[in-house]
Amino acid sequence: MKQEMHLTAPPTAVEKARHREQMGHSSCVIWLTGLSGAGKSTLANALEEDLFARGIHTYLLDGDRVRTGLNKDLGFAAKDREENIRRIAEVAKLFVDAGVVTVVAFISPFRADRDRARALFADGEFVEVFVDCPIEVCAQRDPKGLYRKAREGVIAEFTGITSPYEPPLSSEVHLRTDRQPLEACVATVAQYILRRVAHGSGAPSVEGADG
Ligand code: ADX
Repeated sequence: MKQEMHLTAPPTAVEKARHREQMGHSSCVIWLTGLSGAGKSTLANALEEDLFARGIHTYLLDGDRVRTGLNKDLGFAAKDREENIRRIAEVAKLFVDAGVVTVVAFISPFRADRDRARALFADGEFVEVFVDCPIEVCAQRDPKGLYRKAREGVIAEFTGITSPYEPPLSSEVHLRTDRQPLEACVATVAQYILRRVAHGSGAPSVEGADG
C-alpha cells in the first residue's frame, strides 16, 4: 500500500508571475498530439525556432529524447503511456512556472491522459494542437520504418495499427499537415501563441520575426 506522505507544497519566493515579468512575456504549454509520422517533431522544432527568433524563452520536450532519458523505464502499453504523459505534463508545468513557453511533442494517444495533463494548468495555459494527418499518409511517409514493422508484427501495440489513437474533440488549434505546408502550420500556431503570451510594452512582436 502507498504510504501517506504528509507533504505540502509551500509557495516559492520567486513565483510564476515574477518569472513571467522578467521574461517579458507570459508562459504556456503548447501540447502537440498526433500519430507517429504526422509531423509533430518537425513542427515542434520549426515552431520553437520561430518563437525563439522573436525573443520568446522556449523549451522543447520531444518524444524520443525524453523516452531515452527521463522515461527510459517506460514502454508502450497503455499504463506506460499514461505514466509517460503524466511525467511529461508535470515537467512541462515546472517549465511554465519558470516562465518558459514549452513545446511538448508526444503522440499522447489517450484523451483521458491529455485531459489530466490539461487539468494541471491554469485556464489558457494549456494549448492543445492536433497535428492531424490521415494514417495512410503517415504510413506512406513512415520516416522511421515503424509502420512497416507494425504491419509485419515486429512492433506490438503500435498507435493507429494495433493500439488506438483518440483524436482531440476540441483542441485549441487543428492542423492538417498533409494539406498545409510546414510554414503555414508554424504561422498558425505562432500567431495563436504570441497573442496569448504577449504582455505589456516590449512584448514580442506578432508580425515577422527579425532574427
Ligand atoms: S506516447 O504514446 O507515449 O505518447 P511517445 O510520443 O512517447 O508515445 O513515443 C512515440 C515514438 O516512439 C514514436 O514516434 C516511435 O518513434 C516510437 N515507438 C516505438 N514503439 C511504438 C509504439 N508501439 N507505438 C507508437 N510509437 C512507438
